[in-house]
Amino acid sequence: MTNSSPHSPAFDTASLAASVVQACRHLAEFTETPGSTKRTFLSLPMRDAHAYLRVWMERLGMAVRVDAAGNLRGVYAGHGGSAQRLIIGSHIDTVPNAGAFDGVLGVVLGLALVESLAGRRMHFAIEVVAFSEEEGVRFAMPFIGSRALVGDLDEASLATRDAAGTTVRQAIADFGLDAALLPDAVAGADVFGYIEFHIEQGPVLEDLGLKVAVVRAIAGQTRLKISFKGKANHAGATPMRLRRDALAGAAEWMVAVESKAKATPGLVATVGWIEAMPGAANVIPDEVALSLDVRHANDEARLLGVKSVLDIAQSIAAERGLAFSSITTLDQPAVAMDAKLSAGLEDAMRLAGEPVHRMTSGAGHDAMGMARAVPSAMLFLRSPGGISHHPDEDVSVGDVEAALNVGSRFLQSIDAL
Ligand code: GLV
Ligand code: MN
Ligand code: MN
Repeated sequence: MTNSSPHSPAFDTASLAASVVQACRHLAEFTETPGSTKRTFLSLPMRDAHAYLRVWMERLGMAVRVDAAGNLRGVYAGHGGSAQRLIIGSHIDTVPNAGAFDGVLGVVLGLALVESLAGRRMHFAIEVVAFSEEEGVRFAMPFIGSRALVGDLDEASLATRDAAGTTVRQAIADFGLDAALLPDAVAGADVFGYIEFHIEQGPVLEDLGLKVAVVRAIAGQTRLKISFKGKANHAGATPMRLRRDALAGAAEWMVAVESKAKATPGLVATVGWIEAMPGAANVIPDEVALSLDVRHANDEARLLGVKSVLDIAQSIAAERGLAFSSITTLDQPAVAMDAKLSAGLEDAMRLAGEPVHRMTSGAGHDAMGMARAVPSAMLFLRSPGGISHHPDEDVSVGDVEAALNVGSRFLQSIDAL
């Protein structure tokens, strides 16, 4: 894959918005799986994505670096070398068979906003961050990128292994980075805010006929690695009553998880990945590994939901003579966005002629991690068809233009403070 140069300068908002969409589609071609988009933490195509974005950042006069967690960061200096800094960012890793806009749009929109300044300096610096990891695909542990900025990548996280047995620490070294330098990735006290533009990934804005909305809060999420263990045996010679089939037990549990979530208002629960061992048509599976993702806007309801589906797993396992175990890889409480920054976005929406709508995000975002250390706010853009985590994921140029208008009014109003 060659890195063709990003678009040439374009300062009217409509053509800038069109070039944002074009750049996202181009970045979707940097993939581990030709024919579809998959770009996980510090994979080879992430290097290509960095190279592409770096050209753009350098053309805008930004100082560019890749921190020890693989986050690509470009700083557009403020007027008179001001130390105050606003971070605009999102992630550039993807799920398998991804669309072109989840995460990437927020990074490219950040660069487009800097571009729209046409060389003008604000009273604060703008740092655009392309987070290396948000989805949790490679290590079943999301937010590696933003956790580095809030100083939360501990030894246990660095020792987590991917399916090939590679640790996070090794993946960092393999990318030519040094985990010992992680303290340099932490956002300093001079960072006064974090703003993230992101597609909604759901149908609400389309239903309301709105282009953009302010995110009030982000739902909490729990992720677990689940294991059922039974006994492998011959598929032809072992009568049904004498089996300890780990996959049949896992299947019964998956359906029970779905029923529990359906019966609990606001709860969503997903088994998105499963592997059965030894994996042959004529062998009863003795071991099944699964992922479980549970979310709710209310933390208590989420934790109760998790407990309940784990209790169900224990009783299914006991009934079937299986061993059951689980490891929690993420327990992320719901996060409220910063009231002041969100009000600033709302004012900017009014100035841009967009109706003000506030909503809760069901999806997780880098803003969840950033909010632990830095006042954070988000602007959602309408998702056509409500589709995301799918190649049909889309965004309209007109909605990107609206987001650019809101974003640039937001920057101007902070600059005027
Ligand atoms: C990120 O896309 C998430 O899983 O919410
Ligand atoms: Mn995302
Ligand atoms: Mn996503």
